[in-house]
Amino acid sequence: METLKLDLICGEKSEKIAKAAEILKNEGIVAIPTETVYGLAASAYSDEAVAKVFIAKGRPQDNPLIVHISNIDMLSEVACDIPEKAYKCAEKFWPGPFTMVLKKNTSVCDSVSRGLDTVAVRMPSHVTARAIIESAGIPLAAPSANLSGCPSPTNAYHVINDLDGKIDAIIIDDECQVGVESTVITLAGDTPRLLRPGAVTVEQLREILPDIEIDEAVLAEPTSDVVASPGMKYKHYSPKTTVYLVEGDSDRFADFVNSKKNSAAICFKEDKNINIPYIVYGSECDEGSLAHNVFSVLRDIDKENYSDVYVHAPSKTGVGLAVYNRLIRAAAFKVIKL
Ligand code: TXA
Ligand code: MG
Repeated sequence: METLKLDLICGEKSEKIAKAAEILKNEGIVAIPTETVYGLAASAYSDEAVAKVFIAKGRPQDNPLIVHISNIDMLSEVACDIPEKAYKCAEKFWPGPFTMVLKKNTSVCDSVSRGLDTVAVRMPSHVTARAIIESAGIPLAAPSANLSGCPSPTNAYHVINDLDGKIDAIIIDDECQVGVESTVITLAGDTPRLLRPGAVTVEQLREILPDIEIDEAVLAEPTSDVVASPGMKYKHYSPKTTVYLVEGDSDRFADFVNSKKNSAAICFKEDKNINIPYIVYGSECDEGSLAHNVFSVLRDIDKENYSDVYVHAPSKTGVGLAVYNRLIRAAAFKVIKL
């Protein structure tokens, strides 16, 4: 299949957004930018379109999709029995990098939630993403637009690299601002629970949901096949190079990596005296910069033929928790504490 490139950086935006919406209404699949990562969108009302997403990504069949809406009225079209606290969260964190798991409305295809009675819902803040949903007039199911298992795509070229020839169209727009996928919480159980950390932090969530619990899968390897969020149990975001996550101060990190042959480091801009090849992924003091670059550097490291890459671990506070959560999966839970 030839993938249509709809370039918004040069040319007429509104026509290209209308074209993307038309493809989506006709049960096609289109990669769209969001503020977190690029998504691979399909009508949440079409089993046929959703099936194409799973095939293009090679996505495990039991991993449900997030449904994207463009205004608060759409929430009750896709979810039901919506608790008051969901509206409070929506008011505070939408539009933005925040997803809520709620009871599913029957209008949403069972193939979106892979048989669960819940649905994950997000209202993105990205203007193009919302314009496409508005123009299509339907909620869009959209996982990250990468091949399953690969680092999530934060610019259109990552998407082209993974999915060109496998999907109907790609919107080419600027790189994603946040860089890691949305925060996912569930409000479908008795107690609110964080399933995946993101740019909306635990600290911010606690202001609205003081009793929120952090799912054990956020920082540890799941020990059973039954997890609250199926996406958490897969090896994720992995480049071909073997990744190790390394905890320790700057001096110890440098001493440690300098003894490694045929390896590279992914480090902070504050790190000094590193004598092996390295890529800086941001500032230790600015977790947002680490989130913005983490997936991109994991892709870049694969352009060389290193056997191993040692990543300097961020703090687990603020957005750092989201970065740590992605890196520990990229490392298949191999953590070295210095
Ligand atoms: O920022 C994002 O959320 C991006 C952009 C495109 O919006 N999307 C994204 O989708 O990250 P995906 O499919 O890569 O991750 C969705 C996560 C998975 O871990 C999945 O298991 C979880 O959300 N999820 C979806 N529906 C769920 C449900 N009903 N219950 C529990 N977890 C759910
Ligand atoms: Mg994903």
